[in-house]
Amino acid sequence: MFVDTHCHLSKDDYDIDELINRCKKNGVDTLIISGCDKKGILEGLEIIAKYPNVYMTIGFHPSEVDTTTDEDLVWLEKLVKENKKIVGIGEIGLDYYWVKDNKEKQRLLFEKQLKLAEKLKMPIVIHSREATQETYDILKKYSLRGIIHCYSGSLEMAKEYIKLGYYIGIGGVLTFKNSKLKDVVKELDLNNITLETDSPYLAPTPHRGEKNSPEYIPLIVEVLSTLKNVSQEEVGIKTTENAYTLFDLKKHM
Ligand code: NI
Repeated sequence: MFVDTHCHLSKDDYDIDELINRCKKNGVDTLIISGCDKKGILEGLEIIAKYPNVYMTIGFHPSEVDTTTDEDLVWLEKLVKENKKIVGIGEIGLDYYWVKDNKEKQRLLFEKQLKLAEKLKMPIVIHSREATQETYDILKKYSLRGIIHCYSGSLEMAKEYIKLGYYIGIGGVLTFKNSKLKDVVKELDLNNITLETDSPYLAPTPHRGEKNSPEYIPLIVEVLSTLKNVSQEEVGIKTTENAYTLFDLKKHM
């Protein structure tokens, strides 16, 4: 059985009932939605209220930096306290690929949310794009745990994140032909890896370029099991245990 630790689910993209059924058929029995803007959070709240195996992390993505206010962060805190199925803060972080003219503002929003996670004693989900070193330098100041979502950096950096207490989030990119991520993942221990799709983005091979879905997790598992030379079942057991431990899911049921 598998956990998709990071997906964005919206009624605009999926028939949620059917999606959940297809996931179950593929052994993907637990989903963690990433609600990372107001619309995503509100839609996610409806979904987690309805489906027993679906949880959510909430936080403001760096692309939301210009519209996010301190009141919005108060709202996040209130939601966490009211809703048992919110299991973490994220995705939050730095994105110097899409938005680079507001780095200082991004850092400020990021750190405010890290402080919130500290206060609420919650794990975090990190988005970092073209900001690897800086993300690391900031995270080093806090004693938090979480996932480096959609990891794409070097092996050395992955090891540093693991030392800090983070899991390496692995998704569809691993299945791409000539993916450099394969060399990195080969050297990592399964105890440090969590599975994710980042649906509807980054669909794995052979669906590359199409709309992604949490039901495709087994395609990532297949590649991972070959690289690590272990059974797919073993990949499932280890990565599921990692997700349940990090998010303390049994406490949030
Ligand atoms: Ni995402």
